[in-house]
Amino acid sequence: MGDRTRANELAAEYARKGDPTGWFEVLYKESEEGKSLVPWADRGPNSGLLEFWGANRQPAYGKNALVIASGLGDDAEQLAAWGFRTTAFDISQTAIRTAGKRFPQSLVNYRVADLLQPPPEWAGKFDFVFEANTVQALPVGLRTQAIQKIASFVRPGGKLLAIVRGRAENEPLEELPWPLTRAEMNEFIRAGLAQETFEEYFDNEDPPARRFRVLYSRP
Ligand SMILES: C[S@@+](CC[C@H](N)C(=O)[O-])C[C@H]1O[C@@H](n2cnc3c(N)ncnc32)[C@H](O)[C@@H]1O
Repeated sequence: MGDRTRANELAAEYARKGDPTGWFEVLYKESEEGKSLVPWADRGPNSGLLEFWGANRQPAYGKNALVIASGLGDDAEQLAAWGFRTTAFDISQTAIRTAGKRFPQSLVNYRVADLLQPPPEWAGKFDFVFEANTVQALPVGLRTQAIQKIASFVRPGGKLLAIVRGRAENEPLEELPWPLTRAEMNEFIRAGLAQETFEEYFDNEDPPARRFRVLYSRP
């Protein structure tokens, strides 16, 4: 994870303005212009996703996948390479445009969309939904809504894999990202999903970050 100074500045500025998701586009745009860094854009698939897939391959051919807040597209491209018919969206048009430029032969359907007001036709449509690192970038007050929306995309019998930064209940919330507690993760269950596996581990970042990797299904 790169330097988060500018991301933190912008997140604070836009929170003060009452627009807690407005800063993502600004940061991606500044990065496109070579002025700032997007700290999470490591230009490779999520290592926790690759590790999960190695041990828990899922049916992919002919199945629909959705990547939540897909950033520069690496995870979406990976799901498409595994055989999913993949849709991926982000609130930042610059992120979506950059993903399209990075992967000109892509089979992924990239869309600009807001998780909090998604296209209604996505409800209950996806066999496999992948969420990494989005909810933790949203203020606590928006999390329940964000989690309910993510859960709503999973079709009956479908799965959701969520890989997030985790936090013990007594750890303070400081600067971005704002990790989730186990109790906050339970919102996925309240949203109608069943928890299949819950893994807690430390990743290979420097310093290592606590991660929750959770597989849910919709009964
Ligand atoms: C911390 S980044 C994670 C990106 C990617 N999922 C990853 O793991 O590298 C959070 C992403 O969420 C996107 N985002 C934030 N709020 C959003 C919303 N309401 N709807 C869609 N995307 C959103 C941002 O533009 C950004 O790309």
